[in-house]
Amino acid sequence: MNIKLITAGMIISIILSSCTREKPIDKVIDESLAFAGEQYTLMSDVMNDKPGQLPRTLNEKGEFITAGPGWWTSGFFPGSLWYLYENTKDQKFRDAAAEMTARIENEKFNKGTHDLGFMLFCSFGNGLRITGEESYKEVLMTGAGSLSTRFRPVIGCIQSWGSRAGWQCPVIIDNMMNLELLLWAFENSGDSSFYNIAVKHSDTTIKNHFRADNSSYHVVSYDTITGAVEVKQTHQGAADESAWARGQVWGLYGYTVMYSMTGLDRYLSQATKIADFLINHPNMPEDKVPYWDFDAPGIPEAKRDASAAAIMASALIELSRYAEAESSARYLAVAERQIRTLSSPEYRAEAGENGNFILKHCVGHLPGNSEVDVPLTYADYYFIEALLRLKNYLPPAR
Ligand code: GLY
Repeated sequence: MNIKLITAGMIISIILSSCTREKPIDKVIDESLAFAGEQYTLMSDVMNDKPGQLPRTLNEKGEFITAGPGWWTSGFFPGSLWYLYENTKDQKFRDAAAEMTARIENEKFNKGTHDLGFMLFCSFGNGLRITGEESYKEVLMTGAGSLSTRFRPVIGCIQSWGSRAGWQCPVIIDNMMNLELLLWAFENSGDSSFYNIAVKHSDTTIKNHFRADNSSYHVVSYDTITGAVEVKQTHQGAADESAWARGQVWGLYGYTVMYSMTGLDRYLSQATKIADFLINHPNMPEDKVPYWDFDAPGIPEAKRDASAAAIMASALIELSRYAEAESSARYLAVAERQIRTLSSPEYRAEAGENGNFILKHCVGHLPGNSEVDVPLTYADYYFIEALLRLKNYLPPAR
């Protein structure tokens, strides 16, 4: 036996395997969280000079775009800062989070949108959970009351958008994300009307938003007098019958929350059906960052949506806590792959670039030619949330 040859072969194989071996996931998570902290420190400095505004995206020229507190994404930057404070206990994040959260307090009176869960629960909800700040409770309770005014009993849903030609009462799958605020309000007031609205909305959505393959329509509009379905269409997806990626993951996240807060098995079942649709989809890329629509024209050249990957990762980590062992392992494996991909230079920005946002390559509304291949504040929020969820899930010694 040629010892020299064996030794050389072994050395080459060790080098090769160390080249292909991936970084431990806890290191990936720590690096991404540290980067998020650096980027959002810069972002906070910028926002201090823009009173009343919150970060939103970059435009096609790469210019920084903010939004007022009434825009649906207003709660995500404060929410991200709360998460960074929770992770580091660094007072600078707490101060910044409190300041940005205060900017949107008046939205608690806003009865013109269904997005109050996004706006108030990501900001005030996280702030309350992490600091116990008593004054935040009133904001959340008032906001839950405002959201409840949009419930239409004859339909059994919260109305998402205003009426327009062809849509008497449009309800979008995204609306599932606003129900956590109502369930919080039920738990903290004992008023069962909050619970009943959230459950009724979820049940009506299971009945009318989902197709036989467990994908969902974006918009279902209802007749306001009879409560019957008027049309099933899309607004941000590729086609009425397509599976718009972010819509699918809003549903996944929403039913996971509904199960975690009600314990009703039908919501766990719905969440696992959506997860399996997504994970087994033939158009799900190897790196697990979805195309902006699973039926987008031009796949595999179609744009990816990092926001959908971040939301899906966060939801899957949560869902894995409730699913049976085999499914749970699959969900965690996909979420880990998504976190690794989003943490790579392809998706994670360089320090001080990307308008100080964390992730690149998201799609907001491609058919409207708006927010295409840009950073989005909510992609960052759910990415940080997913990082923390996986970090807290890992055994300490790992
Ligand atoms: N909720 C709006 C969106 O996902 O674009």
